[in-house]
Amino acid sequence: MSDSTAENLRIREERTFDHERVYRIHESVFAGHREALLGERLRHGEQAQISLVAEHVTDPESGRHLSEGESRLLGHVMASRVALSGYPDRVLMALAPLAVLPQHQRHGIGKRLVISAVKRCRLLGAGAVVAAGHADFYAHLGFHPARHYGLYCNHHDVPGAFVAFELVSGYLQGLGGEVLFHHNFMGPDV
Ligand SMILES: CC(C)(COP(=O)(O)OP(=O)(O)OC[C@H]1O[C@@H](n2cnc3c(N)ncnc32)[C@H](O)[C@@H]1OP(=O)(O)O)[C@@H](O)C(=O)NCCC(=O)NCCS
Repeated sequence: MSDSTAENLRIREERTFDHERVYRIHESVFAGHREALLGERLRHGEQAQISLVAEHVTDPESGRHLSEGESRLLGHVMASRVALSGYPDRVLMALAPLAVLPQHQRHGIGKRLVISAVKRCRLLGAGAVVAAGHADFYAHLGFHPARHYGLYCNHHDVPGAFVAFELVSGYLQGLGGEVLFHHNFMGPDV
């Protein structure tokens, strides 16, 4: 990459013209349709309350300013409401799917996407955010293992380490229990 991506990055709401390209990001990053289809299901089922994309602000080669949608998408994240069993008043959101194109990874894009999504989760009234994936990546961003809060998720379709982040200090303290994902999170193995 010829530029420093973190400075040349626009994080914005997904638009209709992004849908196909968002699909392609997940398809290429995860080498298959599974995560790509997850995004489609959450969008069509209206579970996805937040869907953000990352793109260049200027062309890395020419320096020309790029309008929204003019450049290739570099990454994408969605966030959807999930339930905490036994605590219907608690507002939790889950980050999924999340992906950054392989050649643009480790340049701060994933971090920017997650921070932006978490801020929006807070604006939507969430008290905590959960995610599944690379524990070390999420640890960098202040997430803790979900078991630290007594939270667990039994479904085999939730891959990797299960982590949580309190947006409101103490929001998860003394609770614990199963985090319940909408059935649209669970898809056929593709
Ligand atoms: C996981 C993923 C989203 C991270 O995005 P990224 O743009 O590469 O991550 P960033 O550059 O923003 O990294 C932020 C920090 O986490 C660290 N980090 C990134 N990926 C990491 C990993 N897999 N393991 C450990 N640490 C990681 C970085 O070193 C960086 O640390 P720093 O702030 O001290 O420099 C990206 O690698 C990806 O799309 N992976 C494949 C898809 C996937 O597994 N998605 C599941 C979500 S976890």
